[in-house]
Amino acid sequence: MIIAPSLLAANFGKFAAEARRAERASADWLHLDIMDGNFVPNISFGADLVKTLRLQTRLFYDVHLMCSHPEILLESFAKAGADQIIIHAELGDQVSQLIWKIKSLGKKVGLAVNPPTAMTAAEPHLSQIDLLLVMTVNPGFGGQPFITECLPKVQQAWTWRKERGLAYRIEVDGGINFETATECARAGADTFVSGSALFTKPNMKGALKKMRALVEKHRRRD
Ligand code: DX5
Ligand code: ZN
Repeated sequence: MIIAPSLLAANFGKFAAEARRAERASADWLHLDIMDGNFVPNISFGADLVKTLRLQTRLFYDVHLMCSHPEILLESFAKAGADQIIIHAELGDQVSQLIWKIKSLGKKVGLAVNPPTAMTAAEPHLSQIDLLLVMTVNPGFGGQPFITECLPKVQQAWTWRKERGLAYRIEVDGGINFETATECARAGADTFVSGSALFTKPNMKGALKKMRALVEKHRRRD
């Protein structure tokens, strides 16, 4: 099970210290949300910040591109030190090419599905990806409530993986706290992005430990 604190919930005045805090708290990955003010109604930060933070930790950098034109950004995020780049299934016809491009840059590739988007948008790409991200809020902002209706999509991701003998990770992102992480683990998730529920805790290590214990205990085993 992998826990990935989302930097979007960190103190924006001290990103470097916050990235190190996640590492000290025994995070597995650091999740970096890139928003372009077009695909989502918010702007976060760009490749230069990822490059600066790359020097701060040894964590695996999970870069989530909520961007309408990722094709113009992939190279700079790859160079900046992303370990994995996630693009969105909503980009339709472009997805196959984007997946190929990310792989050719030597990075792991993730595909995200927004709450209103059917899982069939991701289905043709399952054999090509390292991670399937089931969004559990509409992307754009941290601190939103978990959308329970997304849980069947996590179950679908699990069923497809099993039926087809694939190995992609199943990640959830948005409104993930102790309770919703547990529900997602039961449904089949193995990778948990959590922003506000971890970064707002003064004892992030304790919160991470508790979340890890819960998802391990409730992991789906069938
Ligand atoms: C949502 C982002 C998330 C966000 C999650 O647009 O993709 O990664 O940081 O934040 P919380 O855990 O606060 O919902
Ligand atoms: Zn994200």
